[in-house]
Amino acid sequence: MKTLVVDHPLVAHKLTALRDARTDSQTFRRLTDELVTLLAYEATRDVRVTEVTVETPVAEAHGVRLARPAPLVVPILRAGLGMLEGMTRLLPTAEVGFLGMIRDEGTLKAETYATRLPEDISGRQCYVLDPMLATGGTLAAAVSLLFDRGTEDITALCLVSSPEGVAHMERVFGGGGRPLRLVTAALDERLNEAGYIVPGLGDAGDRLYG
Ligand code: PRP
Repeated sequence: MKTLVVDHPLVAHKLTALRDARTDSQTFRRLTDELVTLLAYEATRDVRVTEVTVETPVAEAHGVRLARPAPLVVPILRAGLGMLEGMTRLLPTAEVGFLGMIRDEGTLKAETYATRLPEDISGRQCYVLDPMLATGGTLAAAVSLLFDRGTEDITALCLVSSPEGVAHMERVFGGGGRPLRLVTAALDERLNEAGYIVPGLGDAGDRLYG
């Protein structure tokens, strides 16, 4: 797995405001949306395109458009929903699938309670959205499910990641296989005993949706 920590002053500025416990839900949602568009710029660097030609008012110009089949965007409910609109704004042809997953706060194990994906996703490029990569159990389960369904390459977009979560993903998916990338706005210090990222930003789902 390749990991990219997006090092950019605008990302750092918005993430700092997002972390601030005084930031209200409305502002938190707006900042999440804005951060996704900044991460998406890096995350879609290898998005598949097709060469096309258009007529400008002056001459013929060679360019590209997003290739078919369209990329698949998969937010992990609930918190990943807060990242969906920012992503589809940049990838307007994308298809969207949903994974509902919840982490048991006692065992820290992820459980899948909903799977709603397009029927055939084999060979597709896929972007998985989840603000938090903590133990990595949730993202690892989501990525395994998508690879099992035949997705060809996966890029995960996370706002805040823990070293433990990245290490877990590398353990599970590090041995080659299909291409997997993680694009994150921050790699934080650690997980605490409750499985929360430190310093993190708290519970993203609660801060987005109350
Ligand atoms: C949070 C977060 C991730 C997961 C991360 O979701 O949005 O999906 O926990 O934890 P992990 O890396 O240790 O698996 P949560 O289970 O709180 O559900 P929610 O999005 O519905 O609030």
